[in-house]
Formats: sequence, structure tokens, C-alpha cells
Amino acid sequence: AVSSFGIIGMGVMGSSLALNMAEKNVKISVYNRTLKGVEEDVAKKLVEAYPEVKGILPFDKLDEFVESLEQPRKILMMIPAGQIVDQQIARLLTFVDKGDVIIDGGNSFFEDSAKRQQYLQGYGIHFVGMGISGGRAGARKGPSLMPGGSQEGFDLIKPFIEKIAGKDQSGRPCLHYVGPEGAGHFIKMVHNSIEYGEMQVLAEMYAFMRKGLGISIDEMVKTFQKWSKEGADSYLMEATLAILAHEKDGELLLDTIQDVAGQTGTGGWAVSAAAKYGVPYAPLTAAVTARLISTHKDVRVSMAQTYPRQAGEIDQKEILNALKGAYQMARLINHEIGFSLIKKVGNAENWELNLSEIARCWTNGSIIQSSLMEKLSGVFKSSDCLMASAALKETFEKDSKALAEIVGAGLKAGVAMPVMSAAINYFYGMSTGQSAANLVQALRDCFGEHGYRLIDDPSGKVHRNKWMESKAKV
Ligand code: 6PG
Repeated sequence: AVSSFGIIGMGVMGSSLALNMAEKNVKISVYNRTLKGVEEDVAKKLVEAYPEVKGILPFDKLDEFVESLEQPRKILMMIPAGQIVDQQIARLLTFVDKGDVIIDGGNSFFEDSAKRQQYLQGYGIHFVGMGISGGRAGARKGPSLMPGGSQEGFDLIKPFIEKIAGKDQSGRPCLHYVGPEGAGHFIKMVHNSIEYGEMQVLAEMYAFMRKGLGISIDEMVKTFQKWSKEGADSYLMEATLAILAHEKDGELLLDTIQDVAGQTGTGGWAVSAAAKYGVPYAPLTAAVTARLISTHKDVRVSMAQTYPRQAGEIDQKEILNALKGAYQMARLINHEIGFSLIKKVGNAENWELNLSEIARCWTNGSIIQSSLMEKLSGVFKSSDCLMASAALKETFEKDSKALAEIVGAGLKAGVAMPVMSAAINYFYGMSTGQSAANLVQALRDCFGEHGYRLIDDPSGKVHRNKWMESKAKV
């Protein structure tokens, strides 16, 4: 045995992590299955493509790969989520020994990870379900790592993975053992859900500015650059600026791309988890729905003819002042609900999740790294609810007005703003002391005898009324 760490799956993420680790002087073995005529010598080709990176041993036979690893073995799987993970684990079980660690670094469903940990525990194998964020560049230069599951397994891999993680502002690795069972993949799922929200808000701003306000791409770029200097910077904003700078044959490349956005699971899983655990989640649900709507291209094109929308009059000057505040407010709400899902599930599962550490882990390497995230990792040290935090009170007060104004103007101009409008509705809903839910509850009682509680009856007794039988005031 010669290598200290093994990686299975030489796709974009697996190969980038392998290069990153080898560059940190960790001797590693890499394995990729060989499919005759489809994928051959993938691991070997990676090593050949990077002759300057030393210390990577390539394998296309699993038994030889496992044998090349020092015990207790540390094996990171970077393969697509789903049944393939179980198949890979089953194949590995033939060769690994008690005390070895298997890590799943894909975007697996957190409940699957919890089951896998239990299953592997029966074989004396430590299983770590680890969320990894950062795409190709992050994986190569320093990703954000969110391991969960076996604590013992984590302790064994920590010295290796902390070498490759991105660093936060104070130089600490963006690595945090989040909690037991499927906690690592749960946190990555919420991370991705916030990622959906961040991307959709950018898309909504882009649509509003371009279609609603008739702002040119140049002007938009200047505006986004200015905002970035004023605290609204983020990796995704930087990526948007890069996209807006790409032209092909004198045309914006973006304008030639089909307006259909895909998704691979995590965003929708977060919505189901929020429903299961009773967490209000409309803005991030809207981000998933927006992607779903985008896939109905034929219907959209046809309905656009049936219901043409004329842009309404907008007082540009007034509106421009409110744009940045609205953007930041929608982002705050997206983060608020993502973290409230984390809080709720963490409490329900007794995972003892640390919101501040989770935010800190996302300040570098992660796709959703931003100045806002830096700020939140501080705010979560003293508060677990952004709306309740004194540090953000003024921002909420000011920017909620801006968001309401922009959403109003956007909808009037015929531009869809699903996440931004859900965000202001969430804020209004969560700051309405006396809502109209009494009518909803009365209706439930009226047709289903579900009962209701009275404001001035502190006993909490459930009352019922025969609403349809008499109209008498009671
Ligand atoms: C990251 C990303 C990444 C993910 C896609 C999935 O943090 O690096 O979240 O892990 O694969 O972006 O999202 P889709 O559902 O959009 O495919």
C-alpha cells in the first residue's frame, strides 16, 4: 500500500479534487471504471494530462485501487447520486476492511446517506456523507466541504480534506463537520436551494432591468459592478458579470441560449423537506417552480400570443434607487428561509447544527459565497433569526420598501418576479401580527369541523360552531 487517500470517479469534480490533493503532497490513488469503447483509461488519461502534478496513481481495477491504499483506507466517491452509489458501495464491500472510511462527495439525498451510514456501520465501515461545493474551479483551488455522518470517519479524513478546502477570511478551512447521519448532505441540499434562489433573483433583476426598464447590457454591467463594490458582491454576481461580457459574432452569447433551465434534484428535495418539517418556504419553492416553468417552452410561446403583455409606465429615476435594496432584501429572505429550514430540521433530528459555522463554511469555495454570507456568519453567532436580529433591523426596514416597490413595478411592467414577490410576501406574512388566518381556520371549521381556538381563551380549548345552520351572531 502506497497511497494515503483514494478517489473514485474521475468526472469534473473527482479529477479536480484529485489534482488539488496531489498538489498538497498527499499521495493518492484514483479509480475510474472502464467501459470498453465508451470510457477507457480515464484515470490514466488524467495523470497523463497533468504531468506536472506528481503523486497520483491511476487504476481501472477496483481491487488493485483498494489494495494500493494504506489502512485504515480513506475512499472518496465522486459519482452521480442515486443507485450508482449503492452499487459502488456494494462493489467496495468486497475489498475494504473494518475501520476503513467511505465518503460520498456527490449530491446524494440526505435520507439515503443516513441509511448508508447505518448499513455500513454493520460492516464496521465508517461512512461520511459530505457536501462539496465549488464546481470545477472550487474543487481544484479550494472547495467548501460539509461532511456529516460518522464522527470517527471524519476524524480519520480530516487531516487530508482540510488541506484541500478553501480558506475563510481568517485563514481557517471552509470545512465543518456539520452533524451525524445525513446532516452533511442535508446541509448541501439547503445550500443548493439557496443557490437556486440566488440565481433566480439575479435572473429576475436582469429581466426587470432589461425588459421592464429598457436598460442596456452595458449599463446593467456598470450597475452590477457598482453594487459589487457596495456590499452586494457574490461569486454568482461575478459569474453573471462574466456571462454578460461574452459576445459571439457581435451578439450577446446569452441571447442565443435557450431559456430552459435544468435541475438535478437538490432544490426540489429542499422544498419537500420544508413541507415535511413545516417550514414556510415559498421564495425558494418559487425558484424551483421558475425552472420548471422554463421547461414548458411550447406552452409559454403559445400563451405569450394569447396573453400579450404591454409594459406599463415606470418612473425610471425613482425605481433605479430602489433596485439594489430590493435585490439585497430578496437575498436576505432567501438566506433567512434556508437557514430556518436548517434550524428546524436540526432541532427535530437533534443534530445540534451550528448556523454560524455553516455560514462560515460557505464564505469561500462555495458557489453561494458572498459578502452577505460573511456578514451572516457573524449575525448567526448571536441570533438564529435574521428578521429578529438587531444588526439587520434597519436593512429590513429600508429594503423591504424597496423590494415592494420593485416587485410592484415589475409586475406592472409584465415581468415575472416569482422569487422576489414571494420574498416580500414572506416578509409581510412573518411581520403581520394579526393575519387573516382566522378566516381560513373558520372555513376549515365550517366545512370540516376542524375547530378553532379563541383569542381570549388562554386554556387553548378547541371550539366549534355550526356556521351554516344559523347566521345569528354568537
Ligand atoms: C455546487 C453546486 C453543485 C451542483 C449543481 C446542482 O455547490 O458546487 O451546487 O454541487 O451540482 O449546481 O444543481 P442543479 O440542480 O442546478 O443541477
